[in-house]
Amino acid sequence: MSELQDKTRFEQRDAAIERIAAKLSVNAQRGRRFAELTSLRVGGSIDWVISPETEEQAAAVVHELDMAGVGWRALGSGSNVLADDGDHHYVVLSLKELKGEVTFAGELVKVSAGYSLPRLCIDVARQGLSGIEGLGGIPGTVGGALWMNAGAFGHEIGTVTDIVRVAREGRVVEIPGSSIKWNYRHTSFEEGSLLLGGTLRLQRDDAEKILARMEDAKSRRLATQPHGARSAGCFFKNPPAQSIGTGKMIDDMGMKGTRRGSAVVSPIHANFIVTEGENALAEDALALAEEIRERVKREQGIDLEYEVELWRANEPDRPKEPGSPSGQLAWNGEPADLPAEPIEKEKLK
Ligand code: EPU
Repeated sequence: MSELQDKTRFEQRDAAIERIAAKLSVNAQRGRRFAELTSLRVGGSIDWVISPETEEQAAAVVHELDMAGVGWRALGSGSNVLADDGDHHYVVLSLKELKGEVTFAGELVKVSAGYSLPRLCIDVARQGLSGIEGLGGIPGTVGGALWMNAGAFGHEIGTVTDIVRVAREGRVVEIPGSSIKWNYRHTSFEEGSLLLGGTLRLQRDDAEKILARMEDAKSRRLATQPHGARSAGCFFKNPPAQSIGTGKMIDDMGMKGTRRGSAVVSPIHANFIVTEGENALAEDALALAEEIRERVKREQGIDLEYEVELWRANEPDRPKEPGSPSGQLAWNGEPADLPAEPIEKEKLK
């Protein structure tokens, strides 16, 4: 495609985005970078960041983007994403403003995707509701936690999820939690679906006891994982059917403290990569991650799977047919609905 055609195409896309933002009264910004929006503090420019404030608005936005053939990706607090250093020519649908109020009805807790997971853990504990206290202190949003079935210290969010709200055809639709496969750090939500929120079904217990268990989980996390450093949590999944976890494996290879430019294997927990410095690069974190993967493969014969999501800049952006079902992108920047087979997140890691 010629430069002129590219320019016209982007101008048309930008005009469509401006029209959608005005029609739905939603904030749309240019000039942001992944380095500002992710906890690893790396990653390149983003063409547009759109920040809906309600579930209805978010559902309407993605429908309009889909109808206009504009690719998008949903981002919570960016605490599990490594975006590369390139120019990302798609819309980032930031869900951070989609937080609203948590509502309680007996043992049911309704919460929107952008709500802070650590805050939710405290809110429900104070209400005497148990089931997610092991997740206390995990940085991230509820939407991100649902998307990947976040878990720690014996609790996983999927086990207590009664209802999930997703965007369909511009509307908020409820689906039963039991219709979702909640696996280890992986769910059956398809790329292209937008999670808007969920309703959790928790169990009554004494608030003091729940808070004590949460504090215990938090202090174990603080003692064994880096905090205050720029990380995306555990970088790789633990391999299935292995008695030894990935962190210990990398530690045993003597890789704690190994550095590639601005990226370092955390001296505290070896399955964490942390970045340092003003101009840290995603490229460094990726090079270090690949070096770890190669050594583990060579020395242990194990293929480590990424636990963080790798977001590639799509160069050039290839818009899909306007009006096709969903414009959310798969990890490699291609519209997710291009392949004949639906893409499962698991296969991409
Ligand atoms: N260990 C080492 N060296 C290390 C790291 C760990 O020797 O550098 C040892 C620990 O001393 C312990 C064992 O390995 O004996 C297991 O370590 P840990 O309890 O930290 O558990 P993990 O399997 O490394 C998992 C999750 C964490 C979660 C913790 C606590 C994965 C990939 N990691 O870590 O989740 O917080 O259990 O439940 O499943 C995340 O999802 O981002 C994450 C950090």
